[in-house]
Amino acid sequence: MVRPYDPVLDARDPGWRDEFCVPRWGELPDQGRGSAEAPGAAYPDIAYFAGNSLGLQPQATRAALDLELDRWEQWGVEGQLEGPRPWKDYHDGLKGPAGRLVGASPDEVVIMNSLTVNLHMLMATFYRPQGRRTKILMEHLVFPSDGYAIASQVEWHGLDPRDHVVRLRPRPGEDVLRIDDVIAAIHDLGDELQQVIFSGVNYLTGEWMDMPAITSAAHEVGAVSGWDLAHAAGNVPLALHDWDVDWATWCSYKYLNSGPGAMAGAFIHERYASDRHRHRLAGWWGTDADIRFEMRETFDPPATADAWQVSNPSIFSMSPVETSLRIFDRIGMAALRQRSLRLTGYLRELFTEVIDGVGTDAMSIVTPADPARHGAQLSVRFATDIKRLAATLRDEDGVVTDTRNPDIIRFAPVPLYSSYLDCWRAADALARRLA
Ligand SMILES: Cc1ncc(COP(=O)(O)O)c(C=O)c1O
Repeated sequence: MVRPYDPVLDARDPGWRDEFCVPRWGELPDQGRGSAEAPGAAYPDIAYFAGNSLGLQPQATRAALDLELDRWEQWGVEGQLEGPRPWKDYHDGLKGPAGRLVGASPDEVVIMNSLTVNLHMLMATFYRPQGRRTKILMEHLVFPSDGYAIASQVEWHGLDPRDHVVRLRPRPGEDVLRIDDVIAAIHDLGDELQQVIFSGVNYLTGEWMDMPAITSAAHEVGAVSGWDLAHAAGNVPLALHDWDVDWATWCSYKYLNSGPGAMAGAFIHERYASDRHRHRLAGWWGTDADIRFEMRETFDPPATADAWQVSNPSIFSMSPVETSLRIFDRIGMAALRQRSLRLTGYLRELFTEVIDGVGTDAMSIVTPADPARHGAQLSVRFATDIKRLAATLRDEDGVVTDTRNPDIIRFAPVPLYSSYLDCWRAADALARRLA
């Protein structure tokens, strides 16, 4: 049994739901089909827990995008260099808010490409195996795209990933990595370790890694520290510059609510950006903006992360990123993190009540309970068929989640728009469906 929902919780901690387009009951394809009495029909909105996969649309996105469409319609190519916000310099407006989001100076960040592309672009600079120093340490439970990208980079250098990529597993019987084990693995690899690449927050388990500790251990043995922040950016507070991270990249379509496939961000510590001769895969957008249109033969990069750009970016893809970053800038990660801890803490308490009823064999929480080790996401293991359970939650209860084989359903209450009622609906639905 789950305790009753208390409306006071949402009344005193409402978040910013009004600024987002929350899908309505019955709007999702096939929802409620065949069941007029579906419990989800009692609520106007969907209880949306998939913001760690695709964040909801901010209300402000459409007007900002329309503005750029209008400029294109009315000005054509003149929009590149003229008007209040020339497209040539458009990405400059995102550097301040993006830097504040990840704890970096504006010159250390750039919005460009997509996430896996940026992994490749940054590894082209930072994965330079030499002599004994060739190995990459990463988590075993990594998002597959990272695994493919890293293996292909190793092969690109003529090396065999089976010998040069070390994938760290949790201890037998455990779901998440212990930071001490990560540090020990770094020291064990010592001068063979070229680079450590981890996820800030793991996509599957929701585990938040101790980024400063791992970065400093990597540096102690002379290795580079690179991060995939897909599930960390906009979710947990970051201080990439102060933690001395070498490079990082993140997508903008999860917690950053910038739309499917939205442009990604990249961080390159200032000590590298000012090295104009550092190897990078170059393109014209990486040359100094002041001379870019002089069409010179020589590549002349600025002393900032902008030097890693290759192509001119899609303004229609960048406008939603800017809209989103301005929301984060206005509210601030500190306030969001506090609300995130309250919401996730509440969801964990309710799930624990469900587990008390159904038993830990039927349902258990995989994500660490320590607030320093998790963000918004709770990954929950079920003994039942997860695809069927998630489909029932969605179609009958109006609770949208996502599944990860073989037995995990992920629930991410997002502090910008999720409510305590959403959390209660998820727990209540699970209690009924697992009874
Ligand atoms: C942790 C992580 N890395 C990489 C990716 C791949 O992202 P993209 O398709 O934007 O390259 C994802 C996508 O969800 C992800 O969650």
